Amino acid sequence: MRRNKVTVVGAGAVGSTAAHWIASKELADVVLVDMVQGLPQGVALDLASASPVEDFDIKITGTNSYEETADSDVILVTAGVPRRKDPVTGKFPSRDELVKINQDVVGPITEQLVKYSPNSVIVVVTNPLDAMCHVVKEVSGFPRERVIGQAGALDTARYKTFIAMELGVSVEDVHGIVLGGHGDEMVPLVRHTSIAGIPITELIAKDKLDAIIERARKGGGEIVSLLGRSAYYAPASASVSMIESIIKDKKRVIASAVYLQGEYGYHDLFIGVPCVLGAKGLEKVIVMDLNDEEKAMLDISAKAVRSVVDVLGYGKK
Ligand code: APR
Repeated sequence: MRRNKVTVVGAGAVGSTAAHWIASKELADVVLVDMVQGLPQGVALDLASASPVEDFDIKITGTNSYEETADSDVILVTAGVPRRKDPVTGKFPSRDELVKINQDVVGPITEQLVKYSPNSVIVVVTNPLDAMCHVVKEVSGFPRERVIGQAGALDTARYKTFIAMELGVSVEDVHGIVLGGHGDEMVPLVRHTSIAGIPITELIAKDKLDAIIERARKGGGEIVSLLGRSAYYAPASASVSMIESIIKDKKRVIASAVYLQGEYGYHDLFIGVPCVLGAKGLEKVIVMDLNDEEKAMLDISAKAVRSVVDVLGYGKK
């Protein structure tokens, strides 16, 4: 029987943490690729050495070349330059300022990946996320079903975490979803947030809820300012939840950045919406009935995404 194979490009913080979870859940054999000599090999060896203790039985390979990624089922692209303090200026670049730098990283990587795994599903993590999804789609020529951005899974996780903290209840009982671009304009849907079915508005006062939404929107930035670098546990675990749904054909409903072709009124733009993820990748976009206020927020988010995507210079399709 053929074993599942997942390639993780970028053996940095997000990539190595994702590989860790893929391994511990025994989802697939993992190939870690990075341009730094020794890094993916070292991470792979370290992780593999934990397998007798943690009792996972998968093959982990670290490499600097793409040949070994051949015939991957799913590819996670984390390679890129994360938000880090500039040692000279002491300033953090915004997610959007990274667009050109990471376009030049993700574009050539995508060429290599599709050469060796033409039938794979690519999950994109590199920021600015929505723009990098466009790069992967443009360079790969893949249908939209096979280029999916990890955004809503993480944004929703942060939103739920803050609600659970506020109420002192289990995260398992917090239900909700965050739509939109992976930026400060993301759209947490309060009307669809509940605690075990109880509307959140009955449990948290509006001003507190507004503060939670604001914190979720700036959740990435809050961690950057504490750590001096971008987050990696939650981004990795959110990515692995998507990979798991694809590899196991679970058909979970996960907010993901996908290429919209008219849904929600947007065309040719990656925006975070509820998606069914299964063996084919994106299997269905769920179109929700948004009210005027929610649609207005999504429009603002889409506009912000469009302005970053325009920096790529692909022109309007
Ligand atoms: N080819 C292969 N690997 C590359 C390339 C490239 N052209 N360019 C960079 N990398 C690798 C780096 O060598 C590094 O090991 O990508 C890795 C990125 O790891 P980190 O710097 O630790 O960044 P990380 O925290 O993992 O974030 C990666 O995910 O959440 C996003 O904003 C984040 O875009 C960033 C990405």
